[in-house]
Amino acid sequence: MELLIKGGTVVTASGSFEADVAVDGGKIAAIGKNLPVTANQVVDASGRLVLPGALDAHTHMAMPFGGTVSADSYLSGTRAAVCGGVTTIFDYPVQHKGETILGLVNSKKEILERDACCDYAFHCCITDLNGGEILDEMAQAVEEGITSFKCFLVYKKEGMMVDDGTLTRLLLRARELGALINVHAENPDLIDLRTEMYLKEGKTSAWYHYMSRPEFVEAEADKRVVHWASHLETPVYLVHMADKEGLEACIRAKEEGHTVYVETCPQYLEFTCDVYKRPDGRNFVCSPPMKGKESQDALWTALKSGFIDTVATDHCPFQSYEKDWGKDDFTKIPNGCAGVENLYPYMLDAANSGKISFERVVEVCATNVAKIFGCDNKGAIAVGKDADIVIYDKDKDFTISVKNMHSDYDHTIWEGKKLHGYPVQTYLRGKLVYDNGNFVGKPGMGQYVKRSHK
Ligand code: URP
Ligand code: ZN
Ligand code: ZN
Ligand code: ZN
Repeated sequence: MELLIKGGTVVTASGSFEADVAVDGGKIAAIGKNLPVTANQVVDASGRLVLPGALDAHTHMAMPFGGTVSADSYLSGTRAAVCGGVTTIFDYPVQHKGETILGLVNSKKEILERDACCDYAFHCCITDLNGGEILDEMAQAVEEGITSFKCFLVYKKEGMMVDDGTLTRLLLRARELGALINVHAENPDLIDLRTEMYLKEGKTSAWYHYMSRPEFVEAEADKRVVHWASHLETPVYLVHMADKEGLEACIRAKEEGHTVYVETCPQYLEFTCDVYKRPDGRNFVCSPPMKGKESQDALWTALKSGFIDTVATDHCPFQSYEKDWGKDDFTKIPNGCAGVENLYPYMLDAANSGKISFERVVEVCATNVAKIFGCDNKGAIAVGKDADIVIYDKDKDFTISVKNMHSDYDHTIWEGKKLHGYPVQTYLRGKLVYDNGNFVGKPGMGQYVKRSHK
């Protein structure tokens, strides 16, 4: 065997047990107590948790947005990922009008083949059907393992928004292909109207980013998406759910038997809209914005009870000077925050403090993501799966700071957050890539994850 991880507590979505994990050829070869195997490398994991690497279903590396490009390149973003226990990212390349899906994805693949420090998959953001050509091309994309596509119902001025007709066509086409449509749901007209009103009144601080798109603005679009998908009998995946009313509509649809997947993000679980009143409120500007406590409580409740399917980051950091463009006008703040290195440690800290179970964290950060998005070799500590493994020390204290992150940004919304418990090692297909604070992998180690479809 290549590697033997001895004596740890293996955590799966359905339970935890003490076992050794043997790895060969980059795959998990055996799991059991006192495995009678010899290995080139033996790691003592006694007293530690042995977890599957997380799959961050939502990242934006080097994404053109708001007049700039998000601060993490594919190299720094995937390096940060493994240092936080994420072994696969799903990036969101955005189609420029007129561009083909495969042309876009292949251009990203070229960069990632050289730079990726973790494995990677793509949800392709479709902004234009190119007169219907994209609906045809989706079939080929699915065969090449791109089995999910995203629509933005917002970002009109950025040229990324699609209308309800396009959303409907995409939902129907996805149903034919066994693919999934991911949706960013907020109401663009309400946002425009409210933004115009606040700017006219001279209300320009970061707080008005929230006020221009509060709970009901997200809820309207969540409900619309659920309505379309339910009536068309098409599965749908709502990204970055942040409001209670929209969440409740999703829960009702699930209870009626519709396949509505819900993703939320650590920032909505940790922060409320009050952050926008802080002097550095602009650093927290993302869309949808953080909401009130009532929504946050509803997210935690749904997370515990199983109505939230995944937790992913929406990692899209910008530098301080770029956030500062919006000091006197919230509409000029590039939208997005950091998170890829914080997802798993944050969620595991919640488990360590008893707020949620470790099994549930594994389920929403790894197992469900792999299942929903067709990563058949990922998402669990099980024989035959890729040996994407995180060793976690429940007793290690860690304070998040921009100084101990492995990204290329210059500030983080997570600065000062104290965590009890932290990952100490990450293995990518059996190779050590993170070791006690240090990235020890190599750019280019990451591989493309070709996904299966329904
Ligand atoms: O503010 C955000 N979330 N920026 C990234 C793009 C998106 O909406 O997902
Ligand atoms: Zn979004
Ligand atoms: Zn209806
Ligand atoms: Zn996003």
